[in-house]
Amino acid sequence: MAKIIILNGARKNGNTAKLVDAFIQGAEAAGNSIKRFDLYGMKIAGCLGCEGCARPRVRPESPCVQKDDMTQIYEAFAEAEVVVFASPIYFWAVNGVLKTATDRLYAELRCLGREGFPRKGVLLMTAAGPSYDEPVEWYRIFERYLGWTNLGMVLGADKASEAYDLGSSIH
Ligand SMILES: Cc1cc2nc3c(=O)[nH]c(=O)nc-3n(C[C@H](O)[C@H](O)[C@H](O)COP(=O)(O)O)c2cc1C
Repeated sequence: MAKIIILNGARKNGNTAKLVDAFIQGAEAAGNSIKRFDLYGMKIAGCLGCEGCARPRVRPESPCVQKDDMTQIYEAFAEAEVVVFASPIYFWAVNGVLKTATDRLYAELRCLGREGFPRKGVLLMTAAGPSYDEPVEWYRIFERYLGWTNLGMVLGADKASEAYDLGSSIH
């Protein structure tokens, strides 16, 4: 059983949400534990770049000087083994809510170090056009930097069954 955290940048009932829901169904059927964060419903400010996270933790529950809903993600992130990034493509990139939450992981990285980070990643994306090149490159660079294993990518609104299979392949 793996502890999976989903950073869900999908709006409700859209194309990407179908991938996320199918992935979760598969992952739950395989007995994994899932923590899903629906970023559109959360208050998460952008990283200030203040490097406050470089100082010793001022508050035990969060590595960041900002107090917002990111605290819930930090707690789950420290325990997680697999991170799922889910987002539609917005202008050749992951969308703003997912990028904002990802930027805030910088503070967690400062505290946990790369070795304390989850070790595996998944990417779920949809787009109107055929190309996923730019966000996939972003994900790959992130993965290389962190030394992650990529468990899989599902790219396309019509691929819910692939997302289910990917979820159910995780143990
Ligand atoms: C602000 C915005 C920017 C977009 N940029 C792109 C893009 O660069 N490339 C593309 O193929 N689709 C683009 N799209 C289309 C969405 O990625 C696509 O419709 C996606 O499946 C929507 O997912 P959702 O239903 O989960 O919101 C864009 C849509 C929006 C609203």
